[in-house]
Amino acid sequence: MLAYRHAFHAGNHADVLKHFVLVQVLRRMAEKDKPFTLIDTHAGAGGYSLEGRYALKHAEFEGGIGRLWSHDALPSALADFVDLVRQFNGGGALEQYPGSPAFAQMLLRATDPLHLYELHPTEHRILAAFLGARPHTRVLMADGFAALAKDLPPPSRRGVVLIDPPYELKTDYAKALGAVRTCLERFATGVVLVWLPQVALVEAQQLPRRLANAAAAAPRGWLHARLTVAPVGERGLGLTGSSMFVVNPPHGLHDALRDVLPFLALALAQFDGATHALEQHVP
Ligand SMILES: C[S@@+](CC[C@H](N)C(=O)[O-])C[C@H]1O[C@@H](n2cnc3c(N)ncnc32)[C@H](O)[C@@H]1O
Repeated sequence: MLAYRHAFHAGNHADVLKHFVLVQVLRRMAEKDKPFTLIDTHAGAGGYSLEGRYALKHAEFEGGIGRLWSHDALPSALADFVDLVRQFNGGGALEQYPGSPAFAQMLLRATDPLHLYELHPTEHRILAAFLGARPHTRVLMADGFAALAKDLPPPSRRGVVLIDPPYELKTDYAKALGAVRTCLERFATGVVLVWLPQVALVEAQQLPRRLANAAAAAPRGWLHARLTVAPVGERGLGLTGSSMFVVNPPHGLHDALRDVLPFLALALAQFDGATHALEQHVP
């Protein structure tokens, strides 16, 4: 299980979709003064070099953040996202890409608690060195799926849970669904973000419908944003795209995605059939 290293994929099309949605959600949560807690069940290392051998092996970032970095006509919400990546690079060239904890560090207020779970010892050590000194922050080398229940509900009754497992084990699909159910049972009003891969596996194809059933009674419903950017690879393998399933989406998120997804599908396309889709359920 611990073979997965996110550095191989940092800044690719899937990270762009995931982190664009995360930024949009965190910006909206910070509009109210009351603190909110962010729980990142699978945090990774926090940030990644794009010049190291891992990132350069397949240079996946070139088909993701690389396509947006020098684009001169980005929609404003996407320009805001790219500006945060620029900030992470100290205003210089694109050499590093922020992980979800780094986006959190840039967007949470000092009083917003941050709980980060990461099982890989090396990733955990890098993450702890990066963010361990932040106030109201826990960086735990523990199973984020197993730990989630005891973190809920957060003390302020405002919170966001990001569920972003590697899905290298097929059991991650059932565990992601279980984690969403736990969130709804213990903290029904919480915002939950789940990243989903588009791959030719029955578990991956069934998960969106299962999440929709689980979230049918969520007070503010759900939305599901998908991007398909690549053709099916040889022998039916490969990541053709990804999606974000959001339970209790903050007001305005749907419209922001409706405006940006068509642009992203074109900008990140690796073949002529690139598409996007946006579904929502409003109770
Ligand atoms: C897709 S990466 C996370 C990327 C990160 N959320 C981001 O957006 O920058 C998944 C991470 O989960 C870690 N991991 C795998 N299983 C885990 C578990 N059960 N609990 C916590 N971390 C886990 C892996 O070591 C890996 O670093």
